[in-house]
Amino acid sequence: MQPVSPRVVELLNEALTFELTVTNTYFLHARMLDNWGLPKLGKVFYALSIDEMKDADAIINRILLFEGHPNLQRLGNITVGETAEEMLALAYESEKAAVKQFNAAAQECHDLGDHGTAAVFEEYVRDEEQHAEWFEAQLEAIKRVGVQGYLAQQIDASVPPGS
Ligand SMILES: [Fe+2]
Ligand SMILES: [Fe+2]
Repeated sequence: MQPVSPRVVELLNEALTFELTVTNTYFLHARMLDNWGLPKLGKVFYALSIDEMKDADAIINRILLFEGHPNLQRLGNITVGETAEEMLALAYESEKAAVKQFNAAAQECHDLGDHGTAAVFEEYVRDEEQHAEWFEAQLEAIKRVGVQGYLAQQIDASVPPGS
């Protein structure tokens, strides 16, 4: 099937770059958090990384539906957080950037007359809004209980490795 405009495939590829970048960032942060002895927060980053990978998968499928070429070579900058708090703050900023990018993409698709792809972007906007909200709440909790209090909740000493 042909897209209404080649621009639609470009917008999907830009979204794909975003999703692949956050997939890798969250995956790395998940393993760093595990390594720091903060596996509860690590699990959340891991689960989100899989979520973003599924978004990337769906975008690849849509590009192929339009007989376009999904660009898996391109990756954005991966900013590595040096502390758990910095990871949360970076993730919050990146989720807000996703909301902005996908809202603009949805609008552009509507303007081009591709309401189907616009609806896909709108669905992603809601997903990324929820992610942003979760990170915002974590930063809020840190403000209230302090970073030490927050991090103490992310330890899980109940399960030794390999069991
Ligand atoms: Fe996503
Ligand atoms: Fe997200």
